[in-house]
Amino acid sequence: MAETLRVGIAGLGTVGASVVRVLRDKAAELTRQCGRDIAVTAISARDPKRDRGVDLSGAEWFDDPVKLAEKANIDVFVELIGGDEGPARASVRTALDAGRHVVTANKALLAKHGVALAEIAEKRGVLLNYEAAVAGGIPVIKTMREALAGNSVNRVFGILNGTCNYILTRMEAEGLTFEECLKDAQRLGYAEADPTFDIEGNDTAHKLAILTSLAFGSRIAADDIYLEGISNITQADIRAAGELGYRIKLLGVAQRTESGIEQRVHPTMVPTASVIAQVHGVTNAVAIETDILGELLLSGPGAGGNATASAVVGDIADIAKSRPGFQHGPVFGRPAKELQPYRKARMRSHAGGYFIRLTVLDRVGVFAAVAKRMADNDISLESIVQHSDGKGEPDKKTVILVTHETTEAAVRKAVESITKDGHLTDKPQVIRIERAG
Ligand code: HSE
Repeated sequence: MAETLRVGIAGLGTVGASVVRVLRDKAAELTRQCGRDIAVTAISARDPKRDRGVDLSGAEWFDDPVKLAEKANIDVFVELIGGDEGPARASVRTALDAGRHVVTANKALLAKHGVALAEIAEKRGVLLNYEAAVAGGIPVIKTMREALAGNSVNRVFGILNGTCNYILTRMEAEGLTFEECLKDAQRLGYAEADPTFDIEGNDTAHKLAILTSLAFGSRIAADDIYLEGISNITQADIRAAGELGYRIKLLGVAQRTESGIEQRVHPTMVPTASVIAQVHGVTNAVAIETDILGELLLSGPGAGGNATASAVVGDIADIAKSRPGFQHGPVFGRPAKELQPYRKARMRSHAGGYFIRLTVLDRVGVFAAVAKRMADNDISLESIVQHSDGKGEPDKKTVILVTHETTEAAVRKAVESITKDGHLTDKPQVIRIERAG
């Protein structure tokens, strides 16, 4: 049998502890699959005394993850620290420079430094595996990196943040407040250390940036993503969406357009009958549309210790199965040097349908004035309905508009004019509608 694969793990939070547990519990099966033992021989975490409920015996302890990456007797460095700079970046770089394979679940790090790290890994002939960084346990990286060779991707979109999907699902199903749902997501170990990364869409954006690179062969451009989170979504939006035959999801979308590649993260109305609308709770889903295959939809557990550990262990097993002389595939599906500059499509050119919810004063002519501003901007309406606002305020009305396909620029101009007209009592709500099968 080949020599034992020695693994060093940096970071023992929810995911790190689950990885250690799975590697121990499934040791015999992994040995059968990989043809060699896998052993955790080095560990680094903040607090050596904390009881994490896992057996760490036999592993050398390092206070400093960078030292572990440099000095420990390991073949694979597993980074589960998180963050795009500091010890996470320094330790991954050190491990790659030292010619060690790296497995990471760190989407923020890859979104910012992925191409530079890929260049080092490819130069050193080692693997940089990151299945757990996008969509938790769903094998979307393997699918895009390996299984779709020869396909040209037109659009990739998905529910990439378990915390947001969990919150939106429970708000709709149980009428709970945003805050109540977020607390539960934190308690269950789905949310990031700083949950604003989840709810303001940054976590989805990091994952989308990685998928965009794999889909379009472009350099990662996380700073060029249009970003809106879910913290402004109210029960009024969720109810109105339901009445109109839609459900609200936080989507990350990357799409090839005539003017470049659109990358956007925002709350989105998807038809209630679509497959993606049936993805509930912490489950993630990724839809990939290609010229040869058509549409592929992958869905599965997107966050939490076990889901993420499943992907990390899969990446470690891939390394255990590789052998000296084996030609490692490039990190982003093609050599890092071949990745093209990202050509950004402007958000103002985005074309699609829109949901617009306005709270207006109940005065003669307001409804007509709103409709006129839409017409002035060449926006064709699919529907316009007026409700009393339901909060016992008889002088206020809610006007809900659904547009046919129009542009972001036209909608922004129309809403700006309506706001200037002085009929609104509250901030207008605009939610984009996404075509989904
Ligand atoms: N906070 C992330 C989520 C964890 O909720 O999806 C998985 O990346």
